[in-house]
Amino acid sequence: MVDLSSDLGFLRLKNPVIAASGTFGYGLEFQPLYDLSQLGGLVVKGLYFKPREGNPPPRLAETPCGLINSIGLQGIGVEAFCQEVLPKLALLETAIIANVCGEEEEEYARVAEYLSRHQGLAALELNISCPNVRAGGKCPAQDPEATYRTVKRVKQVSPLPLITKLSPNVTDITAVALAAEEAGSEAVSLVNTFLALAIDLESRKPKLGNVLGGLSGPAIKPLALRMVFEVARQVKIPVIGLGGIFSYQDALEFMVAGASAVEVGTANFVNPLACPEIIKGLEDWAESHGLNRLSEIVGSLKV
Ligand code: SIN
Repeated sequence: MVDLSSDLGFLRLKNPVIAASGTFGYGLEFQPLYDLSQLGGLVVKGLYFKPREGNPPPRLAETPCGLINSIGLQGIGVEAFCQEVLPKLALLETAIIANVCGEEEEEYARVAEYLSRHQGLAALELNISCPNVRAGGKCPAQDPEATYRTVKRVKQVSPLPLITKLSPNVTDITAVALAAEEAGSEAVSLVNTFLALAIDLESRKPKLGNVLGGLSGPAIKPLALRMVFEVARQVKIPVIGLGGIFSYQDALEFMVAGASAVEVGTANFVNPLACPEIIKGLEDWAESHGLNRLSEIVGSLKV
């Protein structure tokens, strides 16, 4: 048997495959389809303190090799999550990670502090990179100083390990990753979606109610892979890679580029069984390549 585990230092995952936030509901929606304990982990939909309606429709536009969304972080809020969802998720033998959102620093801290008072979470993912909630797609992860301040503030109130989710909509993602690391983030996950526009030609209107949205899916994989490679060479904390992972080969490429674990997002919409299929593919590939531990390949790109 190949050892598929991924040791992030602050958390040991049974395998490196994590279902990505915003593409997997609160996890329970996928329970009828397969045993979620197969997953390395799952990140629930973004949580603000209060319930949130999200952006006006339409919220999704398909492209030839990707999906543009402008959901606007619709969600049930931390109270309903901790009362109705977390107790059920906590029964699963997989790492449950909450995606933490906020209008400003204090709300990020309030959400993180509230979640930390409840049993069942393995870590928090700090969502400072959603392009759909501020005008023009702006987000704190576009600024190293805002990233540093938000991470630092959340670390003051929560003992849970923190994974900071980074935006690709920057000139130098390594500067933001280093700021997160310096402020005490235990890991970084990258990348969130690329700011994008879809146009309906007949009406000459944007296809999305919020005008701009975030592009995910296979179109962004080479860009995300490049950013993971760049960041993994600069930071000492673990890197979790995401962006267009649809197959076990995609997951392996991210690991070779330096990711200790991966998140699978848009693929869950196309194939709800994407995560367990990728895990099986990783196991078969490692076995056929004579590996004892899959983690041997992390950062093994020959350059
Ligand atoms: C959204 O809800 O608009 C997408 C979530 C994200 O990009 O973080």
